[in-house]
Amino acid sequence: MIFAAILAGGIGSRMGGTDTPKQFLTLGNKPVIVHTIEKFVINDKIDKIIVLTPKNFINHTNHLIDKYISSSDDIIVIEGGQTRNDTILNSINYIDENYGIDEESIIITHDSVRPFVTHRIIEDNIKAAKKYGACDTVIPATDTIVESINGTTIESIPVRDYYYQGQTPQSFNIKKLFNLINSLTDEESNILTDACKIFVLKDEDVHLVDGDVTNIKITYPYDLKLANTILEDIHD
Ligand code: CTP
Repeated sequence: MIFAAILAGGIGSRMGGTDTPKQFLTLGNKPVIVHTIEKFVINDKIDKIIVLTPKNFINHTNHLIDKYISSSDDIIVIEGGQTRNDTILNSINYIDENYGIDEESIIITHDSVRPFVTHRIIEDNIKAAKKYGACDTVIPATDTIVESINGTTIESIPVRDYYYQGQTPQSFNIKKLFNLINSLTDEESNILTDACKIFVLKDEDVHLVDGDVTNIKITYPYDLKLANTILEDIHD
């Protein structure tokens, strides 16, 4: 089976100024999270879409899905976790409990606050996760990357050609991810802020999928302004 996990368990602290997490703010004429879910609903290869939100937003999310999405039978809303990785873990546990984890199934994990993910990116993630077991969506770094350990002086300036900016989706063979997560020590779990990092730490290949400059993450208020501009541009 092919599962999508829409990660919406965060509170959006960097957005500031609102009790409503950024994934529920309005972009154009509907909430950000609705734009994101729609991109997965239109892909007929995806069997189930699991949306993970803070507990007190589960009802609200179900209401939004009923209101905006006509074919909502294959969407389920469950509680996210304390950290982004915990949210991913909740989706895997849900799959394990309700469908079991076989050798072939894959999961496409995507930030709810990246509403401009394209059909092509999702298709490429499905292909790469099936073929290689793990993939990450990236774009080449455009700015020069400067490394500073102390935050005051430069340690090194690495060759830019080797550096990419990570986006999402990140997609995985579920069994492989499940086994790797269960093999982590407590110390390893604490430093793994990113699911792909688990594969890298365990010397497993993660294939690169081309992202897109418009596949932005809404993090700060400025990003929401930018998102509105991108939306207008798409509709022009
Ligand atoms: N996320 C999640 N569960 C968490 C934390 C984050 O599902 N416990 C999701 C967010 O909802 C978001 C995505 O991961 O869609 C990317 O994370 P980020 O932009 O860091 O979101 P927040 O954690 O909400 O933002 P902030 O760090 O500003 O609080």
